[in-house]
Amino acid sequence: MTSIETFRELQREATEWRRYLHENPELDYRLENTAKFVAEKLASFGINHIEMGIAETGIVALIQGEGGDGPTIGLRADMDALPIVETSNKPWSSKIPGIMHACGHDGHTAMLLGAAKHLAKSRNFKGTVALIFQPAEEVELPSGALRMVQEGIMDRFGISQVYGMHIMPGIDIGKFGIRPGPIMGSQDDFDILVKGIGGHAANPHRTVDPVVIAAQIILGLQALVSRRTDPLESLVISVTKLSAAQAYNVIPDQVAISGTVRALASTLRDFAEREIPAVARGIAQAFGGDIEFKYMRSVPATSNNSEETTLAIKAARDLVGASSVDAATRINMGAEDFAYMLQERPGAYIFVGNGPTAVCHNPAFDFDDEALPYGIGWWVKLVETILAP
Ligand code: NI
Repeated sequence: MTSIETFRELQREATEWRRYLHENPELDYRLENTAKFVAEKLASFGINHIEMGIAETGIVALIQGEGGDGPTIGLRADMDALPIVETSNKPWSSKIPGIMHACGHDGHTAMLLGAAKHLAKSRNFKGTVALIFQPAEEVELPSGALRMVQEGIMDRFGISQVYGMHIMPGIDIGKFGIRPGPIMGSQDDFDILVKGIGGHAANPHRTVDPVVIAAQIILGLQALVSRRTDPLESLVISVTKLSAAQAYNVIPDQVAISGTVRALASTLRDFAEREIPAVARGIAQAFGGDIEFKYMRSVPATSNNSEETTLAIKAARDLVGASSVDAATRINMGAEDFAYMLQERPGAYIFVGNGPTAVCHNPAFDFDDEALPYGIGWWVKLVETILAP
């Protein structure tokens, strides 16, 4: 039986991989060096079925078990960094100006590589493990998981279940958080163009001032959450961009408002798409203006299937004990494009504790390498649980 001690033996090597990736971050689909690094490591572990170039720089590699026929399960890691100037001051800080691994995807990649090394050696499972190394998790649509799904990886590699993980600052190292059902929110974005009649700022009565209308719209949208949404359901509407005239003495013709919508239930996405323009248009028209509206659907909520979540919990408990696995973890309203893989196949997504680091996407963030054996161990236990010969 494998234990956490087994995976500590891989920690030093995995730390080297992780720090190399941290020093050499790459963005979105442009992961040429990262993909080459991953493929070379996989080949060095004796894995001979490696397909590169899926969704540009994505990789799927297959490890056959020696325990007989069985299903193929997909294990996914994201590999991309963010356009942030690093301030961690670690010896392995980013060598690429303006790009850094601020979301732990360097750690995700190293953990799946560590699991690959172990599994390629042990092969003590039936069926097949499909390692999915994904580009472009952090980008606007179409993101990497969607592109890999659209390029047919589920059918092509016969994947019947799919699993994902993300490290989580604030959860202790050695602990896991998961829950059945929704675990991460959906993301949609919207643009409202408020149209008025511009003019001289000294004579507002000869204009239809879109700035004042925009201010009322922004406040009006808050009531969609506080007054129109069931308090026991989750909806976030955040206005994040606002632009109007560039002069002190000009009332502009129009004001652009943009924002984001996060939800757990698809019915609330429909509600937001319908009601945001209704509120905005009603307010604008009441003051003699009007609006143009665009609603851009992006990532759906990440929702765990109950049976696969039970397997994921069992794997984590086998590794760290029941008291270190929170099976009713707090939902995170951030979006995660692994949701697209979960729309295609049943599976589960888990949070792996990363201790008291800076929060993700902060310039001082750095993945804590002490988490490596736990991530590696969870992947291996998951395979040993689901594909037990
Ligand atoms: Ni991330």
